[in-house]
Amino acid sequence: MAKKMLHSLTLNGEEVEVASAPDATLLETLREDLRVLSSKRGCNQGVCGACTVIVDGKPVRACLTLTARCEGRDVRTVEGLSQDPILAALQRHMVAEGGVQCGFCTGGMLMSARNLLAEIPVPDRETVKSALSGNICRCTGYHMIVDAVCGAARELAQ
Ligand code: FES
Ligand code: FES
Repeated sequence: MAKKMLHSLTLNGEEVEVASAPDATLLETLREDLRVLSSKRGCNQGVCGACTVIVDGKPVRACLTLTARCEGRDVRTVEGLSQDPILAALQRHMVAEGGVQCGFCTGGMLMSARNLLAEIPVPDRETVKSALSGNICRCTGYHMIVDAVCGAARELAQ
């Protein structure tokens, strides 16, 4: 087994040090070492988007990102955005519109949607669909999730 190395990164605003193997992914480190569980292991191949987190302000697939590559970088998950007004509005509308069913995709979906609204405060429907196109949901048929993101955007713009 490869020797573990110590890595420093900022997780949800706090400096953390974690020992990980050279081939450990950020998803493994978050879930197994740091017990941050909102980032889900779906396909583990970069396809489903359930593991999406924000690194240095951009959504990334945690299952395809090596922890070693996150040295000194800023990592955000749903857990670190509990006071964030954009995330709060998204969560409210996801529940109200029925965009959360089994919930497996929800953490990754929220990360992608939150990033979209931070960059484009009032996106049109097609832009929302495009921004969420890398996040697979097996339950909702997507309409309710898109409705939720559009609703949150309208609320935040008022
Ligand atoms: S678990 Fe990472 S994209 Fe599916
Ligand atoms: S709510 Fe079940 S996968 Fe999206």
